[in-house]
Amino acid sequence: MSATTGNKQTKVAFVRKFLEEIILSSNGPQRAKLPSSRQLAMELGVSRNTVLAAYQELIAEGFAEPKSKSGVFVNSEILSQLSKGRKILQPTTPKSERFEFKVAIDTSKTNLPEIHKPYYDWHKLKYPFICGQVNANLFPSNTWLRYLSMALEPIHRNFSLSDDPEHDDPLLVTAICRRILPSRGIKADPSMILITMGTQEGLFLIADALFDESSTIAMENPGYPDARHIFIRSNAKVVGATVDDFGLVPESIPDGVDAIYTTPSHQFPTNATLSISRRRRLLDMANENGMVVIEDDYDSELRYIGRPTPALLSLAGAEPVLYLGSFSKFLAPGLRLGFLVGPPSLIRILRQRQRYVLRHPPGHLQRALALMIEQEAYARHLRRYRASLKRSWQVTTDSVRDHLPAVKIYSTAGGTSFWVELDPSVDAVELTRNALEEGIVIEPGNVYFLEENPPKNFIRIGFGAIEPRNIEAGIQLLGDIIRRFE
Ligand SMILES: Cc1ncc(COP(=O)(O)O)c(C=O)c1O
Repeated sequence: MSATTGNKQTKVAFVRKFLEEIILSSNGPQRAKLPSSRQLAMELGVSRNTVLAAYQELIAEGFAEPKSKSGVFVNSEILSQLSKGRKILQPTTPKSERFEFKVAIDTSKTNLPEIHKPYYDWHKLKYPFICGQVNANLFPSNTWLRYLSMALEPIHRNFSLSDDPEHDDPLLVTAICRRILPSRGIKADPSMILITMGTQEGLFLIADALFDESSTIAMENPGYPDARHIFIRSNAKVVGATVDDFGLVPESIPDGVDAIYTTPSHQFPTNATLSISRRRRLLDMANENGMVVIEDDYDSELRYIGRPTPALLSLAGAEPVLYLGSFSKFLAPGLRLGFLVGPPSLIRILRQRQRYVLRHPPGHLQRALALMIEQEAYARHLRRYRASLKRSWQVTTDSVRDHLPAVKIYSTAGGTSFWVELDPSVDAVELTRNALEEGIVIEPGNVYFLEENPPKNFIRIGFGAIEPRNIEAGIQLLGDIIRRFE
């Protein structure tokens, strides 16, 4: 292959390969200096930007290290384990792969569809209508750095650095009780809180503790596939309940289920908000049947018209409601921080289970977040973030109405995505592939349905990660691609 032909990605890959060879051959004790970007660009006949992009990848992956003013060096730590380094750069089949382990639950056998996203490359594309990710430019990096650093000051250090599987950071737990939950109408005591590494872990702990092969869990259809995976892995049976423009239809929950998993604030993936009358009916059903309600309140604060609706837990009396909160949508999913609210006796049990999987979420992150919430920087960020997302939501709302040939666009007052039904002639999986070739990331909707043969003509369009100025052009281009199917 010649370096001077091919698209930008191919050229970057070419330069990267070249640099990998230099890294792998520099097997000495000193740290080897890599060629300057100017020199390498001339040598390989590519632009300096291409070389810089290859360097960026290698630096991000830890194979090279920049030293200010003196250039880029091979990361000697990786070199000190050269054989491992070669495995990382040029994967060979590890020995363990030649042994067949007996695995109790093999997801490949459950054969359930999974969400697939171009996780590593999406930010390089012009139109990332990716769901569940954030625009890194909107993340309050300086504020977060300030609190990470404050969390290591002498009075906080002990909480940040010690290992305590029996308690979460008391400052974070009180901050959640005093400053986060009241806006959801929830009064909770610190003994009712477990800090989790996101909703996903909370769901896992609940399923692991409460469900087995004798359990039947209802969930919204369409609904959150990761929840379905978690319930199935606990060997429970999963059944669907209907969703319409007002969210979950309580009467559609099959009789005799042990639990219902629901996303009342913004139904996932339609974004419909569960009406108050339905919330009360759902709680009445829970009361009558002893059905556990798992309330996933992942992004309630991201509402652009009116106020967030009260959480189910805030309306509940004696009904068993387990509430899951997440910082993935308000800060960033990569931080992996969330919390679970439930009765103290269950929280104790879940904490024990968490202890033998990951002990506890990192103390440093807990303390930094606690300080950020306590000193109101979190509330300020949320206000700014919501205002910015509201603008993106408005542009996306107008653009999808103006440019998308759709059968139905589900209207939304909040959230970070749109759920769109296209003409039945459109295959959303193929559309997603074609769109990606033109720099557009969307998600096909089939994975959200529980049916074995789900509808093929639904898509999800996220607006939380894309630069607002690119939204309209991206939707217009997507509209053109969809029309090619009709
Ligand atoms: C329905 C739903 N619940 C919860 C979450 C957040 O999960 P986590 O806190 O594990 O990042 C997401 C993220 O995409 C989601 O879509």
